[in-house]
Amino acid sequence: MNIQEDVSLKPFNTFGIEVSAKFFIEVKTENELIELCKSNFLSGKQHLVLGSGSNILFTKNFDGVVIKNSIEGIQFKKSGKLIRVIAGGGTNWHNLVIKSLENGANGLENLSLIPGTVGAAPVQNIGAYGLELKNVFEQLRAVDIATGKVKQFTKAQCSFKYRSSVFKEELKGKYVITEVTLDLHNTAEVNTNYAPIRIALEKKGIEKPTSKDVADVVMEIRNSKLPDPTKIGNAGSFFKNPLIPKVDYKELQFKFNGMPAFPQAAHNKVKIPAAWLIEHAGWKGKRIENIGVSETQALVLVNYGKGTGRDLKDLSKEIQASVFKKYKIKLEVEVNIL
Ligand code: EPU
Repeated sequence: MNIQEDVSLKPFNTFGIEVSAKFFIEVKTENELIELCKSNFLSGKQHLVLGSGSNILFTKNFDGVVIKNSIEGIQFKKSGKLIRVIAGGGTNWHNLVIKSLENGANGLENLSLIPGTVGAAPVQNIGAYGLELKNVFEQLRAVDIATGKVKQFTKAQCSFKYRSSVFKEELKGKYVITEVTLDLHNTAEVNTNYAPIRIALEKKGIEKPTSKDVADVVMEIRNSKLPDPTKIGNAGSFFKNPLIPKVDYKELQFKFNGMPAFPQAAHNKVKIPAAWLIEHAGWKGKRIENIGVSETQALVLVNYGKGTGRDLKDLSKEIQASVFKKYKIKLEVEVNIL
């Protein structure tokens, strides 16, 4: 085990915040991880499991052990139309999407270019353009940090919700996800329910899109709206889109002309794009010294270089207060603030 001390976490969080970890251990195999959990090293110390740090905001140094999951690998198992994909938790998510398409395994195209790792994907049930991880999820393997024991989780045991799962709630910080199994298919059924995807395909004159066509369009849309974390520090959507009662929406629509809403499975509720609320409260593109709100997607907070986690947290609180004052809607944070 290679235990490093006082390691800068700047390269390990996409906000690019300069903080350090007291201890830092990178694990490359499940066995290495089990060995670490069974040793005494973690006892009495706090720990944090890090994938690629694309959904985290550090506000201070981490006075414990950072476990960096670098367990990589992708396997495909074909049986009829079904293609089962088994990937290591430390595998880069977008690589998995690309490799799957190259192997004729369809179903992940809408989730192209999402930053992060395979092991982090189930934690917050990543989603974009009408698809969530849970729609293709089969099972996962995880190691219990307290005992080093391996446990398999079925889809039901993961309790997937909008941008959440059991690993973000009851089991938060208790397991490291070492392997995820997804069920993909070799047929060309694509999901183009999401209007911006449909419109972009129509513009290109594509009538019968392949999975690759959908992936290309998703990448183009993401690249045009979401700031590239390798250029401007960010962690994607900072807040969740709030769900509000339909009756409240009717009233708000009266007061705020053009406020959009998306219907939900629960018919008495609607989802309001937080980006719209933030933009119309005057925050889009706002810059305060080293930090700000993205110019292209109001849901994304950005670090222009030397911003601190505290500055970003303070800004997020100001945005929440201003949105609440204007619309009486509470915005919930989506990223993990530490
Ligand atoms: N909008 C604005 N101003 C903006 C951006 C958007 O008013 O600056 C409004 C528009 O009405 C637009 C609507 O918000 O139609 C929705 O915008 P968009 O399609 O960009 O999606 P979103 O709801 O803001 C969610 C996810 C994203 C995901 C996109 C695409 C959450 C919290 N965010 O954003 O996920 O990529 O949909 O499906 O659900 C992430 O989780 O990090 C993330 C980027």
